[in-house]
Amino acid sequence: MKIYVGTPEEIAKLAAERYVKLLNEKPDAVLGHATGSTPLGLYAELIRLNKEGRMSYAKATSFNLDEYVGLDGTHDQSYRYFMDKNLFDHIDIRKECTFVPSGLDTSDSTAAAYDKAIEAAGGIDVQLLGIGNNGHIGFNEPNTPFGSITHKVELTQSTREANARFFASIDEVPTHAVTMGIKTVMNARSIILMAIGKAKAPIIRATVCGEVTPEVPASVLQLHPDVEIYLDHDAASLL
Ligand code: GLP
Repeated sequence: MKIYVGTPEEIAKLAAERYVKLLNEKPDAVLGHATGSTPLGLYAELIRLNKEGRMSYAKATSFNLDEYVGLDGTHDQSYRYFMDKNLFDHIDIRKECTFVPSGLDTSDSTAAAYDKAIEAAGGIDVQLLGIGNNGHIGFNEPNTPFGSITHKVELTQSTREANARFFASIDEVPTHAVTMGIKTVMNARSIILMAIGKAKAPIIRATVCGEVTPEVPASVLQLHPDVEIYLDHDAASLL
């Protein structure tokens, strides 16, 4: 694992350069995107660089990690809406080449088809990840099998509470989500994990220095050959 530490602005800029390099070397790259507050600085930087002509997404394909069950793409808390508003609407990617798991059709066959679609596109070149306070990646909560592919999950109470800030009340936070599995994530050729803030410091320590265990889903990243971790000083404070 390579670890980069800086201010939130510095790590956003540094991580963005990875995308410039990748998209210039491989214009038809397959990108795995994530939601949450953590990647917002990176996305703003990617939009700026795309508008400046440093790289183009015109031939790229995107697969998002996860989606809430029950929300369609027009709901302002759906992850499809988040991605459109915070990235896709502002870059030159073709919308039809951006994929987010369906929050409405949650059958096993549709979930499995998501992994098949990733494979058919050539596999993910760079998968971006945030991390939940309990170590979840995507919505793979603690004790998700490392061999899992895209599937429907029940969200833990702590995840629903953490995400309640975006909804009118906790009752409106969906109880389930569809997420790429741990295996889907680990199949990516390279992975970028980002974390910002003091609240993430303990789980970053467990992820990087702790035992590799399904109890800390992100700890599986220790087994991946190409992982870069971008942390602000607070998130890195217990390393
Ligand atoms: C959600 C998403 C995760 C994300 C996590 C952390 O639960 N499913 O992919 O990493 O939130 O969010 P934040 O970056 O806002 O701390």
